[in-house]
Amino acid sequence: MDRIAIIGGARLEGEIPISGAKNSAIKLMAASLLTEDALRLTNMPRLADTRFLGKLLERLGTEVVESEGADGPETLLRTREIVSAIAPYDLVRQMRASFNVLGPLLARTGQAKVSLPGGCTIGARPVDLHLQALEALGVQIDLHEGYVYAQAPRGLQGGPIDFPIASVGATEHAMLAAVLAQGDTVITNAAREPEMIDLADCLNKMGAKVSGAGTATIHIEGVSRLHGATHAVMPDRIETGTYALAAAMAGGEVRLTRTRSDFIQALLDKLSEAGVEVTPHNDGLTVKRNGARLRAVEVDTAAYPGFATDLQAQFMALMTLADGESVIRETIFENRFMHAPELSRLGADITVSGGEARVRGVDALEGAQVMATDLRASVSLVIAGLAARGETMVNRVYHLDRGFERLEEKLSACGAQIRRISGGGDEE
Ligand code: UD1
Repeated sequence: MDRIAIIGGARLEGEIPISGAKNSAIKLMAASLLTEDALRLTNMPRLADTRFLGKLLERLGTEVVESEGADGPETLLRTREIVSAIAPYDLVRQMRASFNVLGPLLARTGQAKVSLPGGCTIGARPVDLHLQALEALGVQIDLHEGYVYAQAPRGLQGGPIDFPIASVGATEHAMLAAVLAQGDTVITNAAREPEMIDLADCLNKMGAKVSGAGTATIHIEGVSRLHGATHAVMPDRIETGTYALAAAMAGGEVRLTRTRSDFIQALLDKLSEAGVEVTPHNDGLTVKRNGARLRAVEVDTAAYPGFATDLQAQFMALMTLADGESVIRETIFENRFMHAPELSRLGADITVSGGEARVRGVDALEGAQVMATDLRASVSLVIAGLAARGETMVNRVYHLDRGFERLEEKLSACGAQIRRISGGGDEE
């Protein structure tokens, strides 16, 4: 299993190009099931998660062709015919977002059997809202032996979908199904994350009629068929925020390009409050910090446009060296502080109680062996390692490979002393 070794203390200077958004790319890939024509996705991130979904789509009948286009990595997806409407446990369990193939399979074939994703390390994460949305579209659902058996014998029927809580995955799933339903669908209390807009834009290019994405109410006028399209995946706002935090932690000046600063405004406000200089520009932003110690600031995670839960672990890493006590409240997921004990191994002073972590800034961190527990937690350990004295060894980095493209390359191009050690055992 690969590990990542970091020698802390190097300032970061240079430019980091941001990749296409993982969380958007995987929903866009699922959208390709909705048409027999080709969907060409540009600005595709090359990640374990996108490769993994590609494998599942191939099982369902999609041809998946990756190539290097004029503007970076592309993927061409074409599902002439659904050859299987079954998504088995061994594939869905590895990536929760695979569950989102259920809606498109139903829209295209009227029936599907998809495994329940099961729990995961950041809390229970049920799919009740996904199923509620599909039922509102006339789908009959039975649950047996860990599988969802879903049928829409008369096709999907548009209808009102009112979510009790805003869910990113369920809102996207509802859109993916309702675009081919008969009649109109109105989704209320929809998630407002920028990925909703990216998915709606792509679906509209394919001939769908979606409006209001990015607001709490989304209107969808069902159409009878969709066609092929070309769509550029939006920039990854979590990767953008992560490198902004890396630069703030290590010190120096880093220009983040091919991205948008407005997607991470809540983080940028907190960075400024903490004493980091942030300058937005047309193509992204520049993050700068010279010498002075950062101030501790409080953060509550929230749905967009609030502070992203996917940046909470990385922000906690930054706060370990700030002056004073920072209170970080996680409001989206239960059990999302697994990085806290690992950061403590590096010398951080953190107390977790329920959904709240108190981080008392220390003068220095010291490198140690640590273990990645989930995607965002693992990158928080890398960020801490950039500023820790001596060597930090991050074990179990397959989590990182799910969501961060060429992380060591991007950071070392800015002067970080970071390298991947392939194979070998880890500390388990
Ligand atoms: C997506 C992102 C993830 C991010 C999260 C919140 C992807 C692939 N993942 O996850 O990186 O951290 O949004 O921004 O896009 N819930 C239910 N029932 C459901 C669905 C969700 O109770 O059927 C709950 C969840 O347990 C959680 C909350 O709703 O407490 C929000 O989850 P949701 O927005 O659905 O997150 P994901 O789509 O899983």
